[in-house]
Amino acid sequence: MSKNLKDLYLDFFESKGHKVIPSASVIPENDPTCLFNTAGMQPLIPYLLGEKHPLGTRLTDLQKCFRSTDLDEIGDKTHHTFFEMLGNWSLGDYFKKDSIDYSFEFLTKVLEIPKEKLAISVFKGNDKVDADNESAEHWMRNGIPKERIAYLGEEDNWWGVSTGGPCGPDTEIFYFRSDDEVPKEFDPKDDRWVEIWNNVFMEYNKTSNGKIIPLEKKNVDTGMGVERTTSILEGVDDNYKTSIWKDIIEKIEKLSNKSYENEEYARSMRIIADHIRAIVMITSDDANIVPSNTDQGYILRRLIRRMIRYAKKLDIDINSDFDIELAKMIFTKYEKYYSEIKRKKEKVEEILKKEKNKFVKTLDKGIKEFNKIVEILKKQDIKVIGGKTVFRLYDTYGFPPEMTKEEASEIGMDIDMEGFNKFFIEHQNKSREGSKEKFKGGLVDHSEVTIKYHTATHLLHQALKDVLGNDVNQKGSNINHERLRFDFSYPSKLTDEQKKKVEDIVNQKISEALDVTVEEMSVDEAKAKGAIGLFTNKYGSVVKVYSIGDYSKEICGGPHVKNTSELGIFKIIKEEAVSSGVRRIKATLK
Ligand code: ALA
Repeated sequence: MSKNLKDLYLDFFESKGHKVIPSASVIPENDPTCLFNTAGMQPLIPYLLGEKHPLGTRLTDLQKCFRSTDLDEIGDKTHHTFFEMLGNWSLGDYFKKDSIDYSFEFLTKVLEIPKEKLAISVFKGNDKVDADNESAEHWMRNGIPKERIAYLGEEDNWWGVSTGGPCGPDTEIFYFRSDDEVPKEFDPKDDRWVEIWNNVFMEYNKTSNGKIIPLEKKNVDTGMGVERTTSILEGVDDNYKTSIWKDIIEKIEKLSNKSYENEEYARSMRIIADHIRAIVMITSDDANIVPSNTDQGYILRRLIRRMIRYAKKLDIDINSDFDIELAKMIFTKYEKYYSEIKRKKEKVEEILKKEKNKFVKTLDKGIKEFNKIVEILKKQDIKVIGGKTVFRLYDTYGFPPEMTKEEASEIGMDIDMEGFNKFFIEHQNKSREGSKEKFKGGLVDHSEVTIKYHTATHLLHQALKDVLGNDVNQKGSNINHERLRFDFSYPSKLTDEQKKKVEDIVNQKISEALDVTVEEMSVDEAKAKGAIGLFTNKYGSVVKVYSIGDYSKEICGGPHVKNTSELGIFKIIKEEAVSSGVRRIKATLK
């Protein structure tokens, strides 16, 4: 095959009338329940719930995804933190028949996978929803024999995110990855069959109180992991041996003067390879994430430190530019698909250098200290490192507790994480505000309350410009049921008078009962009309512009309230610094 999977996929769906949309940020917008996008459908949730998408009803994309829950699993042949998901969507357009026909055609005609190597699972039904015979029939019509179609339950063939949102039965496509003779009957428990594609038929919405209600328009959401499918197409059982990683692994072999074929080293090499890609993708993202002690910044910090530690394990000179050399290889591979990489190379290098310098200075000392502690504990036959010690390693030597835990587990010990948390909370007055919840992942919340906050955020943005000047720009936004949080560029602390003015303006606009309206237009038109907001290429060439009376005009995907009179009373509860030149406001509606 001369072209790669990503191009073939996007070209194919474009030829079937889909619009190719650019990947959204790897960080979900306005979603307090989730640190990263974990599936291609996540940024599309408003549209799956019925909002009109400016580019129509057939979409396809390559989405940047990240699953931090997998961080500790990295090191085997198939896991990644950052990964890319290909997807195609029908927003109330085609449904089961076309979706299945497209998938079948793409796999057998474009990728030239023999249909004899494919098997299918469909939903067997439950007390609320019937068995999905329709999907099974479409597969059989395409020539998949009955014995190769398994009917499975909710655990396997129902897709949605646990916290709620659009959901429905799915049909999964499996490939027989083995040179053995393909068994006549599909046994989903036989691990020679690997899942390559998931087509979800979203007919329902799971509300925040767990109710399943039918959606007005039925959608299709599909997801195909680039790494796994590439390994299948290239006939290897180790993702790190595919064309995606091969040269990166070879470079790490050279840097360390060790062989990937030695399993003892392979794990460290995979961790370095996985993490450097994730680091580049997170730091180059327009969400402007930098290493820190909270949320996404904390994950980024852990990735960088973990990568350095494993490089040290392989005897790579960590004071060299090994990380920059690897990052450059990632730039070359991915800049074609993500224009932000082209713009952000220098920034990525700068962040890497800074964070590495910080850590390398104390790494040796920290490891010595760790070994000393272990010696003492061993003598006393103690197997758990106390919370206070774990906190000291964190505070003095920059060892994230997860890292100490990993070091400890390699020598059969554990750490007292609860104890650590106690010291952490005591010593760190900075709150980490519910971040634990967020690590679990979740879903964009479009409840009435959060929609109100969303509209209030637009008013606040404009009011800040009115009071502080037009240079004020959004740097981040986060909404939950209790408050909005808005980060913006401004060099100094706001005075009480300024805060009061902002508050008064927002409340004035609320009391004017302004209508909220939406229009679709090109990015250029939006700019010409004076709309504010991020002019990234996220929404493609056509964007939605929300207006609040004549007061605010902002590019945004929505949704919003219909009229500002729905908002209540706006109050600023906190104003603080986030980093140099960036301020943060938290505000409530009562
Ligand atoms: N959203 C579905 C998945 O992630 C397609 O598998």
